[in-house]
Amino acid sequence: MKLTAIIGSPRQNSNTEILVDKVIEGCKSRGAVEVDKIFIADKKIEFCNGCLTCMGVEPGKLTCSIKDDMAEILEQMQTSDAFVFGTPNHMRTVSPLLLNFLCRMLPLLTFRAEYDDRGNRIAGEMSSLIKGKKTAMVISQGEKYFCSSLVYEVLINNLRDFRLKNMGNVVSLGNLSAGEVAKKTADLDKAFNLGEVLAIQNG
Ligand SMILES: Cc1cc2nc3c(=O)[nH]c(=O)nc-3n(C[C@H](O)[C@H](O)[C@H](O)COP(=O)(O)O)c2cc1C
Repeated sequence: MKLTAIIGSPRQNSNTEILVDKVIEGCKSRGAVEVDKIFIADKKIEFCNGCLTCMGVEPGKLTCSIKDDMAEILEQMQTSDAFVFGTPNHMRTVSPLLLNFLCRMLPLLTFRAEYDDRGNRIAGEMSSLIKGKKTAMVISQGEKYFCSSLVYEVLINNLRDFRLKNMGNVVSLGNLSAGEVAKKTADLDKAFNLGEVLAIQNG
């Protein structure tokens, strides 16, 4: 199987990356896995300019007015069987890097419209070029009490919009410093198990 791991933290030795690596490890423990690890901060991915050129084009055609690394990433995402999206809690939501990445994923959405004789839109169906693929979510936050409900909601609802099938999540608390989660066995185990679930559960 092919797993695409998307890391939305901008810092080195990030808790997000450590947890995502554990998901990858768990996945690999169940068989051969080709991993495509995307560290968003290292890519040339400009801000979505909101032009919506991507909407209203022929379904299946990936169109974006911005020419950067995202074009190749979107092509590669379509060949993946599963995803893991990782993000730190930044200001109670997903990181700006990941939010922009989700915006730039919009070309993966397809919209088939039906029109009447006069050209009025009478029906339409939204779908996605990555429909039905499995996904998992990893969230790391600084506070020791749970304050990532919005991060969770933003991420899970967007992944649902892309018609991905969520297989589970890890939310790790109290990781203010870089790399802190490396000592948290329970969270690391949960991430490993999530990787196994991505590998073994079908349908
Ligand atoms: C700009 C910024 C905003 C943050 N906002 C929050 C927050 O609202 N709640 C929280 O619990 N932690 C917050 N944090 C702390 C991070 O969520 C925490 O350090 C996290 O573990 C970072 O993950 P990383 O190591 O993968 O980057 C914030 C950190 C930064 C840099």
